[in-house]
Amino acid sequence: MKIIPVANYEEMSARAAEILLEQVRSKPDSVLGLATGSTPVGTYQHMVAAYQQGKISFAHCRSINLDEYVGLGPGDTASYHYFMWHNLFHHIDIRPENAHLPDGKNLDAQDACTRYDQLVSDLGPIDLQVLGIGSNGHIAFNEPSDHFVADTHIVDLTDGTINDNQRFFARREDVPTQAYTLGMRPILNAKLALLLVTGPGKAEALHRSLTGPITPAVPASILQLHDNLIVIADQAALSKF
Ligand code: PGA
Repeated sequence: MKIIPVANYEEMSARAAEILLEQVRSKPDSVLGLATGSTPVGTYQHMVAAYQQGKISFAHCRSINLDEYVGLGPGDTASYHYFMWHNLFHHIDIRPENAHLPDGKNLDAQDACTRYDQLVSDLGPIDLQVLGIGSNGHIAFNEPSDHFVADTHIVDLTDGTINDNQRFFARREDVPTQAYTLGMRPILNAKLALLLVTGPGKAEALHRSLTGPITPAVPASILQLHDNLIVIADQAALSKF
């Protein structure tokens, strides 16, 4: 594991984008594992800027996103589909057919999860997996639990996660209570995992994840088993170390 300490969000975003761009330069048909949330927005802005300046092309990249809310699809502004198109895909040259997220509109959970696992297995292993961390230690939507789950599955979101994500919705009641999420297998199998952590709200979760026991009660702790993990964290996020 390598920890890259940075001063702030902007520096975290710039460093993360450098690593992503280097990945795509060295392997233009990279499989990128992408994440949503506030954390990677700045990283995506740097990627868009590099594309617009003609420094990079994503035309041969494939992407696999971590998760999607059950019941939401591309037309819902709070969906992760919408987030990805709005923040990244619309502004770069990735081909729409190569940009993948779980199908939140497919309410047959078993079918939705099986299809996503098939896709991940067809495209994988992921070359570079971008990850954020929840204030409760979740990665993707693998919430604290008494067991780890390997493959794509449906999860009940915890009250804490619903509270954290309420800011993206008009009302708390609008936040979906379930999501489809990748399991731990493709995350651990990614050739490089890039964990981005910013702000004091993540300090406790980050410290427990990297220094505590490996336990499903702190899902990100499983990253201690990753062979090639880079953590880019700002001062506030590293304050418990
Ligand atoms: P955030 O979410 O980037 O919006 O803080 C991260 C996460 O929940 O994984």
